[in-house]
Amino acid sequence: MKSAEVSTPGKLMLFGEHAVVYGRPCIVTAVDQRMNVIAEIRERNILQLIAPDVGLPNYLQDIDDLGKNPNIPKGARFVEIAVKNFFEKYAVKSGLKIETRSDFSSEFGFGSSSAVTVGVIKALSELFDLKLTEQKLFDLSYKTVLDIQGVGSGFDLAAAIWGETLWFVGGGKTIIPLDGGNLPIVVGYTGIKADTPTLVRKVEEENRKYPKTIEKIFEAITLITEEAKDILERRDWVKLGDLMNLNQGLLDSLGVNTKVLSSLIYAAREAGAFGAKLSGAGGGDCMIALVDNQTREAVERAIDKAGGKVLRIKTGAEGVRK
Ligand code: PMV
Repeated sequence: MKSAEVSTPGKLMLFGEHAVVYGRPCIVTAVDQRMNVIAEIRERNILQLIAPDVGLPNYLQDIDDLGKNPNIPKGARFVEIAVKNFFEKYAVKSGLKIETRSDFSSEFGFGSSSAVTVGVIKALSELFDLKLTEQKLFDLSYKTVLDIQGVGSGFDLAAAIWGETLWFVGGGKTIIPLDGGNLPIVVGYTGIKADTPTLVRKVEEENRKYPKTIEKIFEAITLITEEAKDILERRDWVKLGDLMNLNQGLLDSLGVNTKVLSSLIYAAREAGAFGAKLSGAGGGDCMIALVDNQTREAVERAIDKAGGKVLRIKTGAEGVRK
């Protein structure tokens, strides 16, 4: 039976999280930890999902019932809705076997849901011989994420599709590759899995209570992100580190920082990092610190000593590929 195999990168947010949900810019980079998706046409009218990484060794769903169960297990949700949306959009239908394998844990906040969504839609476009442009792949992936989560800027989907380091404006209004390369960063995982929609709603609530103040904070985050764009391309790590620290302060003021994130961030700064901040929604997941060859080891040790798990990754990875 016909099959297609694709892989998509995970991501790390560098600047502009939360503000990007309100139509503002962010800078995101794709990481060399990938999600692999293998899709195969099957005769039986069933979607069979094999996703042992998320505890689903053999999930089965009737093709005619895709998306009908209100309690789809978490690990199957993005795959099932991506298949449903693809079939509806392109008026095709078939039994399928889909297998997913990830280089990284879904706990890290590297964007496994968006990586798998893009991977499934891209693999289906191969199976059904449809040449989807990157923009079309983004649009259907973004619809899928919004169908499930109701919120999100789509930055993680862009990283999975285009790869590299991107300038991304909320909703995908602008997507421009930056000259980022492999940035000298250290990633520290807090050991706590954050729920992005909950944190987005928390900021929404603050915004409802203090709209003028929160607007000013988003404005300041936007200025930092704009400045970071040029400084990153100039590779001025001292200034880029300062901007990370400024961005972190504003994220703290939005209420998405935590004690654990702070302790890893301060440990990294005290060990000589140019700057450090949380990456993504906050509440847990990962922090990032900007280093050089002289400070890398000390910063890694400090994060480890403060209770974080150091994850070794490369940034600016290739986007979706067959
Ligand atoms: O938690 P993550 O890594 O998925 O990042 C969320 C970033 C937000 O700006 C808070 C949400 C979004 O969709 O842009």
